[in-house]
Amino acid sequence: MAPRTCSQVRVGVAGAGIMGADHVRTLHRWVGGAVVAAVADPDAERARAAVADIPGAEAVDDPLGMAADEAVDAVLVASPDATHVEIAVAALRAGKAVLCEKPLAPTLAEAEPLAAAARAPGAPLFAVGFMRRFDPGYAALAGAIASGRLGAVRLVHHLSRGVHAGPGTTSASLLTGSAIHDLDIIPWLLRSPAVEVGWAAPAAVLDRDLVDPQLVLLRTADGALATIEVFLSARYGYDVRCEVVGDQATASLPVPAELVLDAAQARTVRHSADWRARFAAAYRLQLQAWVDAIRGGPRDPALATAGDGYQAQRVAEAAIEAMRGGRPVAVGP
Ligand SMILES: NC(=O)c1ccc[n+]([C@@H]2O[C@H](COP(=O)([O-])OP(=O)(O)OC[C@H]3O[C@@H](n4cnc5c(N)ncnc54)[C@H](O)[C@@H]3O)[C@@H](O)[C@H]2O)c1
Repeated sequence: MAPRTCSQVRVGVAGAGIMGADHVRTLHRWVGGAVVAAVADPDAERARAAVADIPGAEAVDDPLGMAADEAVDAVLVASPDATHVEIAVAALRAGKAVLCEKPLAPTLAEAEPLAAAARAPGAPLFAVGFMRRFDPGYAALAGAIASGRLGAVRLVHHLSRGVHAGPGTTSASLLTGSAIHDLDIIPWLLRSPAVEVGWAAPAAVLDRDLVDPQLVLLRTADGALATIEVFLSARYGYDVRCEVVGDQATASLPVPAELVLDAAQARTVRHSADWRARFAAAYRLQLQAWVDAIRGGPRDPALATAGDGYQAQRVAEAAIEAMRGGRPVAVGP
């Protein structure tokens, strides 16, 4: 594995799929103070492909072995949701800092051992991958709200759309795996926790195996109401929008576009195909904040804690309960 240079953090990445490979590239090219020391994936070919351009990085097929390896200082968990707890807990117990992709686990009950290990006294640094908090657009929106220019926030309209749902997505995992970003970012923007969630969907999709799109109505403790549309199979592109409506003014995320083309008496905007391009800056800034904190810098308050991950999951499970029970559900503190 890569020799330790100065105080560079030697990162081991568990999972070399879409996100793992993207994190490896970002760490290697754009993050200062860290080197990719190893990539672990039971699919050894994927691990090899991920490290192909990275001198000194090792491809391995045993993520738990990597988590315990002394040649790794910190572990980035980007494996399937159901594997997060085992790998992250093993890494924490071996004294490694961890950045765990969202969600902590498929269910709140399964997440408990990880939340406990991350919160234990003396535990190494732990963060959850709620990277939208680092997106420059969301950060500007948070600044506008905090400045008071909007007055009291009454409404948030949020939507997250994708091209198609990933294999194996269920009506529940749409909430715990995808909407969880929205369920984290809205309380984060408003600095006010969710207290109640309601759920609705168009009648035309209600009896499908995967109910998509879904609408979540989220009330926050400060009295604001958020509409959250999640539509994974919206076809036309990856699109995330947010408008915050105050009693004095409203603020919206800028519309990111890969290209705006004016031609033939029409304007067309090219959308990203998925989240990687849309949130490239956010992934990079999140990783840099994690590495800086491991190297002894102050913890950026935008780095989501295990408690933040647990709370968003609690809200997602309340939304599932609202979906199944047909009425709004209170979210405990
Ligand atoms: N923050 C975000 O915006 C964002 C976006 C997409 C996915 N994610 C999360 O990232 C994680 C990975 O998602 P993905 O889209 O890259 O999935 P993926 O299916 O593309 O890749 C998962 C990889 O993990 C490997 N794997 C399977 N079991 C493993 C284990 N025990 N240890 C290590 N690797 C293992 C698979 O072989 C595969 O290469 C998921 O938790 C997902 O929810 C986060």
